[in-house]
Amino acid sequence: MNIIEARKICKSFGGISAVSDVDFELRKGEIHSIIGENGAGKSTFIKMISGDYIADSGTITFEGREVKLTRPEDATSLGIRTIYQEFNLIPTMSVAENIFLGDLPLKNKVVSWPEMYQKAHDLLARLGVNIDSRKNVSELTVAEQQMVEICKALSKDMKVLILDEPTAALNENESQKLFTLIRTLSSQGVSIVYISHYLNEIMDISERISVFRDGKKVTTVNKEDTKVSDLVTYIVGHEMGHQYKERQVEFGATILEVNSISNNYLTDITFQVKSKEIVGLYGLLGAGQLEICRTLFGDLPINSGEVKINNKSVAISSPIEAMKNGIGLVPSDRKNEGLMMNMSVGVNSTFSGTYLRSKHGVIDFAKEREVFEKLKQDVQIKTTGYNQNITDLSGGNQQKTLISRWMDYDSSVLILADPTRGVDIGAKSEIYDLLYDFCNLGKAVLFMSSDLPEVLGVADRLILFSDGRILTECNCNEVSQADVLNLLNASEEQSEETVAS
Ligand SMILES: Nc1ncnc2c1ncn2[C@@H]1O[C@H](COP(=O)(O)OP(=O)(O)O)[C@@H](O)[C@H]1O
Ligand SMILES: [Mg+2]
Repeated sequence: MNIIEARKICKSFGGISAVSDVDFELRKGEIHSIIGENGAGKSTFIKMISGDYIADSGTITFEGREVKLTRPEDATSLGIRTIYQEFNLIPTMSVAENIFLGDLPLKNKVVSWPEMYQKAHDLLARLGVNIDSRKNVSELTVAEQQMVEICKALSKDMKVLILDEPTAALNENESQKLFTLIRTLSSQGVSIVYISHYLNEIMDISERISVFRDGKKVTTVNKEDTKVSDLVTYIVGHEMGHQYKERQVEFGATILEVNSISNNYLTDITFQVKSKEIVGLYGLLGAGQLEICRTLFGDLPINSGEVKINNKSVAISSPIEAMKNGIGLVPSDRKNEGLMMNMSVGVNSTFSGTYLRSKHGVIDFAKEREVFEKLKQDVQIKTTGYNQNITDLSGGNQQKTLISRWMDYDSSVLILADPTRGVDIGAKSEIYDLLYDFCNLGKAVLFMSSDLPEVLGVADRLILFSDGRILTECNCNEVSQADVLNLLNASEEQSEETVAS
């Protein structure tokens, strides 16, 4: 029997389709996984079952009745609970308070603390979790916080549990504990939707697997009838072909040299980037590809190792120092980390250069406007002019404004972290062209993307990350998407064996 049936579900953001025509069934008590590349629409889809997003069209049936889920409360009142990667816990409160928040056990209108701690203890014990319910959440590990989230969900009547990439922040041992918990819940009749990138995990835990690609559900298969290599094929689909430009360039001298860098997120990272070269960075979520971008921009401290630019050892302990040494960053979260959202396009574009040009803090505004007019031409920013508010630009033009900042500043290394996320296809290819222009000036580019076809299509060389280390490097012309996924998968399998032995 199906507990949830979704029919022809669609959702677009600003005219761009994120999920289209998805049919999905969840059987009572089954563990049903959803897999697919980044951006395939997995999170958007489950957010519609959780009432976080309202579907543009389509129907959702719960226990045989059609339901309208317009707020998260609509889903929770049916017994649908979702655990996202970002938890909803209050760090300064105890485990027990978090579990029963909004529903504290009362005796004569007074919170009964001993009863609350005992009830929390019992719930945790039921999940086989050994956490002191009086502890503050801030003292827990990520894995423990996740267990508390699940407990919180269990404290009310739970029929469906949805987990969106729950193991990305867990180690192997913690993941195994989570799986045991998921199996227990499933045997108690709870239906589970499980999203993950780790294919071995998926093969381990699921009964059925649905694959998403480009906002559509490609297929739903039984685990028994499926091999990992089949899953890779479904995820990738047909190879993308010639959507990206062929680049014929002679690289120049080495510009960026990273020697044996380690910190809390990275271990022994060593690589070089030459003049005119685009080096792609890829890995599963949290594998180190984003962390190296942040480290090189002075956003994460370096514990050991050395960075050289143009053969000179440089200190990068802050973004300002990174900038002074010729490193620019275009972050994925352009709204929070890159752009100054209430300022003009002009200020956002010339911001870094203004800093260099100003003398004793005095800015020559006529000069700044002149600089902006040239950048606007070079980068083709579609704007009414210097004074237009940045928020009025499309995502693609906002991103071009950010890139223009580093062209103005004359940086020798440009780092881009998922620069085309949420950008339409036309603006994407304009952004790629800007990267090529930037390279052709003799500079070096680091291009991190969570879109595998994109990073293979745009970069010359690819560095693969796994578990905070460099797994391997390859020439982008010589590997396919399936090769890369198989490589990552093999490394995952190996690390599992190491833990087991
Ligand atoms: N809030 C949002 N605003 C704009 N675009 C979004 C938003 N959420 C997701 N998208 C876009 O929808 C697509 C699907 O994203 P998502 O559901 O997060 O994929 P997945 O979870 O499979 O990685 C992506 O192209 C993403 O950029
Ligand atoms: Mg997601």
